[in-house]
Amino acid sequence: MEARVGFSFKKKTKEQYFIARLCLSNTFAVIKDGMIKVAVVGATGLVGRTMMKVLEERNFHIDEFIPVASDRSKGMEVKFKGHSYKVRTLAEAVAEKPQIALFSAGSGASLEWAPKFAEVGTTVIDNSSAWRMDKAKKLVVPEVNAHVLTIDDKIIANPNCSTIQMVVALNPLHKKYKVKRIVVSTYQSVSGTGQKGVAQLMDERNGTKGDRVYPHSIDMNVLPHIDVFLDNGYTKEEMKMVNETKKIMGDDSIRVTATTVRVPVTGGHSEAVNVEFEKDFTLDEVNKILSGSEGIVVIDEPKNNKYPMPKDIEGKDEVFVGRIRRDESQPNTLNLWVVADNLRKGAATNAVQIAEYLASHDLLKGMTLSKANS
Ligand SMILES: NC(=O)c1ccc[n+]([C@@H]2O[C@H](COP(=O)([O-])OP(=O)(O)OC[C@H]3O[C@@H](n4cnc5c(N)ncnc54)[C@H](OP(=O)(O)O)[C@@H]3O)[C@@H](O)[C@H]2O)c1
Repeated sequence: MEARVGFSFKKKTKEQYFIARLCLSNTFAVIKDGMIKVAVVGATGLVGRTMMKVLEERNFHIDEFIPVASDRSKGMEVKFKGHSYKVRTLAEAVAEKPQIALFSAGSGASLEWAPKFAEVGTTVIDNSSAWRMDKAKKLVVPEVNAHVLTIDDKIIANPNCSTIQMVVALNPLHKKYKVKRIVVSTYQSVSGTGQKGVAQLMDERNGTKGDRVYPHSIDMNVLPHIDVFLDNGYTKEEMKMVNETKKIMGDDSIRVTATTVRVPVTGGHSEAVNVEFEKDFTLDEVNKILSGSEGIVVIDEPKNNKYPMPKDIEGKDEVFVGRIRRDESQPNTLNLWVVADNLRKGAATNAVQIAEYLASHDLLKGMTLSKANS
């Protein structure tokens, strides 16, 4: 069984294929060796629905699609590639032994069920925080560290949305100037809290009653509080940015401090990033490096009022960088404004890119790129 590719393999190494694949959303991965079953766990949620959209847009080859949600949603219909599918339970999905399960159903479901999928040979790519800091699990942003993946990785963690967009923007600069310290403040959209966050904002705006997921009003407000507070006074979200950044960039010496803030925006997360490097830079060179890096779009024309904004980038897969300027208060230090769609690059797109990398590097059981075309 074989699907077709949208461009020739003849002139490309696998690495080049993957890089090209990140840019081209309408190509086919060539896959053979039996039926390709893919489960999306959390298929009724914001991230799960976005995963389905991204899989569809990127023509990820799937013979059998298995949407999964909680027992509450069993039998509910979801649409994928023009067909209706009934939502299944986790137990039903494990019995199907899919090659890949893209999880976005929270940490509890992941801690209990990801190992059960792994046991039957499924590769799980998980969006929750359950496995991210587990030493035995890889935490992956394909543009930064896909090379760490092996065929033995059966549970792979997708980083926190705020961390993903920051490391995509900083990694190319880290390679050249070496990051010493990062000070980041986030402006995170309510869609980061899932459907309940969006519902609270809309209910407040429309004056309707509904469940409240935040401890305060979110409309016309800003909450310096994302996830729970820890003993050190930081929130768990802030410490995710600190610890995940070091793990993804493979450098424990990078110092990170974060303030994470929820704002009444639906479409994407923004970040003010102050980064100190070991080596000095020129702004021209920084601009060139960022503009030439995979997955980054620079929008930086202050004179024309052009800079990235969540309203403009919603639905896009790249990380957008603007307001690039030297921190004049300290040597070797740069200020950046970084914006990305948290449901896409911050979650769904990153997970699908990991799956594409695994497929294109023969790292999935029963899913291999066709050697016939190489
Ligand atoms: N939103 C973001 O920007 C973002 C970014 C990165 C990571 N994440 C992570 O992705 C996960 C989902 O986030 P979301 O924003 O999509 O939330 P959401 O809109 O609230 O959706 C949650 C999904 O998980 C399912 N689910 C909940 N408990 C389950 C269980 N015990 N077993 C099976 N399915 C269960 C829900 O199914 P029912 O409809 O049946 O309840 C629903 O499909 C979370 O772990 C979140 O931290 C979110």
